[in-house]
This record gives sequence, structure tokens and C-alpha cells, in this order.
Amino acid sequence: MNMLSQEKIVEIRNSVNIVDVISSYIPLTPKGKNYFGVCPFHDDTNPSMSVSPSRQIYKCFSCGATGTVFKFIMDYENISFIEAVKKVADLGGISVNIGKVHKKQNHTELHQIYDLSLKFYINNLNTASGKEAKEYLSKRNINEDIIKEFQIGLALKKDTLSKILIKKFKPEEVLKSGLVGKNDYGYYDMFYERIMFPLYDLDGNPIAYSGRIYNREDNSKYFNTRETEIFKKGELLYNYHRAKNEARRKNQVIIMEGFMDVIRAYSIGIKNVVATMGTAVTDIQAHLIKRMGREVILCFDGDEAGAKATMACSNELLKIGVTPKVIRLEDDLDPDEYIRKYGQAAFQKKIDNPISVMDFKLSYLKIGKDLNSSVDQAKYISELITELNKIDDDILRDLTIKKVATEMGIDESLIRNHLGPKEKEIKKVKKIEQPPRTDKYEKAESSLIYYMLRSPEVITMYNNKVTYIPTNEYRLLAREISAFYKNFGFISEADFIDYIECDPELMDTINKINKSNTKENYTLEEIEDYINVIKDYNVKKEIKRLTNKMKNLTDPLDKAKIAEEIVGLKRSVINV
Ligand code: UTP
Ligand code: MN
Repeated sequence: MNMLSQEKIVEIRNSVNIVDVISSYIPLTPKGKNYFGVCPFHDDTNPSMSVSPSRQIYKCFSCGATGTVFKFIMDYENISFIEAVKKVADLGGISVNIGKVHKKQNHTELHQIYDLSLKFYINNLNTASGKEAKEYLSKRNINEDIIKEFQIGLALKKDTLSKILIKKFKPEEVLKSGLVGKNDYGYYDMFYERIMFPLYDLDGNPIAYSGRIYNREDNSKYFNTRETEIFKKGELLYNYHRAKNEARRKNQVIIMEGFMDVIRAYSIGIKNVVATMGTAVTDIQAHLIKRMGREVILCFDGDEAGAKATMACSNELLKIGVTPKVIRLEDDLDPDEYIRKYGQAAFQKKIDNPISVMDFKLSYLKIGKDLNSSVDQAKYISELITELNKIDDDILRDLTIKKVATEMGIDESLIRNHLGPKEKEIKKVKKIEQPPRTDKYEKAESSLIYYMLRSPEVITMYNNKVTYIPTNEYRLLAREISAFYKNFGFISEADFIDYIECDPELMDTINKINKSNTKENYTLEEIEDYINVIKDYNVKKEIKRLTNKMKNLTDPLDKAKIAEEIVGLKRSVINV
């Protein structure tokens, strides 16, 4: 729990209008009493998100995302509840004294191990043994400011870190961190003689390292911490926590392959930049990118591998409705080398003039083809059509078709006639064909709670009549709602959501419930019906349990007793 009272949180929420705040993130248009916009929390192009100024709540009819202004900012900016509250308080001109905002990540022992190791590595670089590494960095134009900002450190030859960590932390946790190994001789450091670049989670906590060689030959230029409980490479982007505000401000984010590229760009003042760190972009990373800013620019290495990675990354982004732009660098240079060779102004010019993803793909598809041969021509056009089907942007589609038709001296219809439906639309149709299956018991639980969130009358019925909600997540939520009502004597969805501080698990359940229920009004018969279905379920479960128990009994008297109980229960099911 935080240090703010529920009253204060309500005051802060009421100091702004949810419509004003959300429309500073996504465009909203008024329709009736509410406002509508495209939901940023799932792949969509339709305005399925409604924002209600009277209820101070938003709700997506497609993915079920629900919440107050705090929850919206939390999810959009990937910050904690209390950070979001602080933000809204600033907007509303309310002063809050919550001191240093706590990171949402709970600080586990693994985090502490990383905090300590970071101090250790940073310190090494400043000792006499760090001289060679410092020289290497300075040769690469990495000055003291950059070293400080990116918390660059150094792993030395000896197993010193292992010794420090084993003394301070549980050995099994230390081994879990991936920083220390163990063999017959004891514990040893996993990193030695490498310049250490910390990798951070989305909140900026150090959770892994990439260590670069600088004074010897080795098969791997970079050695990375293996995946751990707190380090999942495919779920983060290098520099995300530093870049996200600037990206939001500019509504633009630049994606690079290497973290050295990011460090270089950052050091010349281009701060809205993140790195994928040389692996294929995952769906999770694509979503992170999507939320950072509307304009996405891919600036991968200038070599062939970089072109291939640009293809793969743009396809992952197109799948979720993001049409990126592309920068290609000459002479196989990577951004770091390009900036050092041509300077800041030349690189800025590149960023200001990206090419469209289709222009990039056209030139990519031409590689290795002889467009004077009709065999290659046919192949080119057929591959082009595959790529066009991935594009959601109608204007870009049309422009590309016109361009290719002119270039190849063919009729536009040759391409148009072969275009299929857009891939995203095929996916949409598939989704509609298979509605999620909910059985009648789950439906009863979900609907009951949906109305509990809206009506004290339903909460009272729940308190009086329902003994036990079978599904864990629904039961927990129902209990919280009931407790809220007991405390405050009223119920409102917005206040309840703030009261639970947007607890992720409870919010998931609320979203699920809002997704499968939409009707505002209920009848008492409906509520009674839900309650009876839930009771019915519990009774059936009990009958099953007793029947099993009876099977294992041998004493006929015991058996008879249970049989009687079962008969009684069965009667009660029929009675309801
Ligand atoms: P690059 O080889 O393009 O890195 O790999 P770079 O930025 O140019 O590095 P320098 O300039 O030689 O120091 C891109 C990314 O791939 C990962 C790293 O995360 C790197 O930032 N990588 C690369 C590894 O994990 N291991 C390697 O051996 C090489
Ligand atoms: Mn490089």
C-alpha cells in the first residue's frame, strides 16, 4: 500500500478530466455521452475504446481493457500506479508528498545482487587495473560522461565478485544470477576481462550484462548473462527506460541493432533510441516499440545482415499494425561507425529523411535478381505481392503499386488482380469465427461480479446468498468488492479500481469480466439466476466429492449415511 489516502487519490483523479488526459495520448472523438478512440492496448484500427467523462472510466469493447486515468497512464507509459498518480497530480496542480517514487518492481535478492555487482564493476574501471580498458573506451570515443550515464564497468581477471557475493547472499541465489559459476574448486566469476555494459529492465534496474572483449582474442566479441528469472532478453529493449519519455515527446522512436549504436546516438543528443541487441524482434518487443511513439524508424546496420534484420523487424511490426520507416546506411556501416565517420549533422539528416518500408522492401527484393529476365521479373512481382498483403496502409499500398507498374512497364491491374485480402483482415475474420468459449458457470460468476461493481444491491445479494465462488480469480475479486463496500458504503468502478491500486491480477479479471459483459442494466431475476447457477455448481461438486468418498468406504452404515447426504443435495439442486 502507498502512503496516500483513498480520499487523496480520489481528489487527484477528480482534478483532471479523463477525456483531456487520454486525448493527449490518443485521438478521441465525441459520440453521444462518451468519447471514442482506437485502443492502444491491442492490435486494432477500429475505435473500440470508449471514454466516459461522467464515470471517469475508459473501456475497450474489443479487448476488455478497463480502468481510470491512472491505469491508462500506467499501461501506456509502463509505470507504476504511484508514478501515474503523481503524474496526474502534477497535471491537476495538486501537490502530493509521496517522497521518492518507488519503482514498481519488487526488489528481490537477485536485484540486490545485480545492484552490488554493478557498483563492483564500475569501481574496477577506475582502478589501476582498469587502465587498458579505459584506453580502449577512449579510443572508441567513449568519454567519462558516457561511461557514467551508461554505468559502464569492468570485469577483472580474478574471481573477486564471486567471493563478495557469496559472503553477502544465499549461494543458491548467487548461482541463479548467472554472474557466478561453481565447479570442483569452488565458485568462479562468469565474466572476466571484459568491459561490462549493464542491461536494464523496463524500469531501469540492472538485471544482466553484456561484456565486451578489449585486450585479447576470443570467439565471442560480446558475452551475455544467460536468461534468469529477472532477465528475459526477448522482453526488453536496451535503453527503454531512458528513451521512453523523449520518444513520447517526439512521438518517434528509433530502433537499432547494437547497444553501442544506441550509446553513440544518445551521446550526440538523439535520445529516443533503443536497441534490439542483435536478436530477432519478438512480439513483446514489437508491442513495446508500438507504445513508445507513432513514428517508428528502423536504423539497423548497413550490411546484409542488417537488411535482413530490417525485413524481419518490419514484418513483426506490420503484424501489429505499425508501418515503420527505414534508414539504410552506406558502406556496411553501423550507426556508431556512421556517426563517427560523418558526424552528427549527417546522421540527423538520415533520421529526418527515412524511406518507406515498401521502398526498402522493393530494393531488398531486387537483390540478386536480373530484372531483364522475365523469370526474375515474375518472381519479383510475386514476392512484392506477398509483401503488399502485409501492409495495412492503403495509401502506401497504392503508391507502391503505381511505382512498380511504372518502373516495370506493366499494367497496375497485373498487381492489383493478384492482391489477396490484407493479412490483418484475414486474422480479424478468424477471430470472429471462434468466439471464446465460456461455460454457463463461468458466465454466471463473471456477470454477478460485473453487476456487483455497479450496484450495492447486487453486493448485498452476494453477501447474503452466495457462499462460495468456485473460480479463484473471481472469488478474490468478489471479496475485494465486498470489502470495499463495507469500508466506504458505496461502490463505483473507478473508485474501486483506484482502491486496489490497479493490482495487475485483479485488473486482468476485471478486464475479462468487462469483455464478456456489456449490458448496463440488470433485473433481479437475472441476478438470482446467476446466484443459483453458482450454487448449483458448488452442490454438484460436493455430490461428486461425496460419491467418490462413498466408493472408498466399506462399512455399509457409513455408506448409507453418505448416500442420504447425496440424496439431500440432489433434492436441493432440483429445488433451485
Ligand atoms: P554488433 O556486432 O553489430 O555490435 O552486434 P556493435 O554494436 O557493432 O558492437 P561493437 O561496435 O563491435 O562493439 C549487435 C548486438 O548484438 C549482440 C550485442 O547485443 C550487440 O549490441 N551481440 C553481438 C552479442 O550478443 N554477441 C556477439 O558476439 C555479438
Ligand atoms: Mn560497431
